[in-house]
Amino acid sequence: MSIGIFDSGIGGLTVFKEVAENFPKADIYYLGDTARVPYGNKSKETIVRYSIECATYLYHNFNVDVLIIACNTASSYALETLKKILPIPVIGVVRPGAEAAVKYTKNKKVGVIGTVATVRSNSYEKELKNIDPSLEIYQKPCPLFVPLVEEGWIDNEIARLTVKEYLQELIDKGIDTLILGCTHYPLLKNTIKSLYPNINIVDSSIAIVDHIKSLNIEFNGSGKREIFITDESHAFDNFRKLLIGDAKTKKIELSDLCSL
Ligand code: DGL
Repeated sequence: MSIGIFDSGIGGLTVFKEVAENFPKADIYYLGDTARVPYGNKSKETIVRYSIECATYLYHNFNVDVLIIACNTASSYALETLKKILPIPVIGVVRPGAEAAVKYTKNKKVGVIGTVATVRSNSYEKELKNIDPSLEIYQKPCPLFVPLVEEGWIDNEIARLTVKEYLQELIDKGIDTLILGCTHYPLLKNTIKSLYPNINIVDSSIAIVDHIKSLNIEFNGSGKREIFITDESHAFDNFRKLLIGDAKTKKIELSDLCSL
C-alpha cells in the first residue's frame, strides 16, 4: 500500500515527516509544486486546477492507495473535487485539525491561522461548527509566516515580533487553542509556545497521522520514499535537510503535471 502526499511546495514536508515516521513500511510519494507556490494568495479556480494536476500525477504515476492533501489551502478548496474524481481515499488536513482542536479546547474559544485563501474559505470554521456549534472561532490570516519560515527565520527577534503582531489579537479574545492551519506554521511552533505557553497548539501534520491510523489500513510496502518538485528551490533543500535529512529529490517538468 502506498501513500501520495502533495503540497504547494515545501511546507508539506512537515506532514511527510510525521507520516513517514508513523508508517515506516508505507511507500510514500511526495510532490511539492515549488514552481507555482504559493497557493495561498490564488483564486479558488486556480487552487482547484493545480490540486487536480498534482493529485492525478501521483495517482497515475504511482498508483497510490491513499492521497493526502498536505496543503491547507488545497484542502480547503479542492478536497471535495478530488474525492469525486479519484477512486481512492483522499484526506485533507482541515477535518483532522478541527477534530483535534475540539478535543483540546476547554473554554470553546478556538483560534485559526492560515493563508489568506484558507481563512477566506472558512473551511476550518465550517468543520469546527459541524463538530460543535457552540464553539467561538476567531480566524486570522498570517501571510508573512510563509516567507519567514522559508528564510529560516523561525526563532529570531523578527519571528517573535511577527508572531506577536498577528496572534495577540486572538489571544486577547481569550482563545485557549490555536490551529496552525498552514503547512509552514509548525516550524514556528516553539516560538509561538514560548510567547504563549498556555495555549494548546494544533499541528495538522500530527493530527493527520491519527486520522490515517483510524482508517486501519495495513501499509506493508518496502518503505520507499520519493520526493518530486516542479522547480529547483533552495528553500526546499534547506527545509528538507532540516526536517528529513538527505532524502533524494527529483525535479519534474510542470508540463508533466499539466498534460494529465
Ligand atoms: N501549503 C500552503 C498551506 O498549507 C502554504 C503555502 C502556500 O501559500 O502555498 O496553506
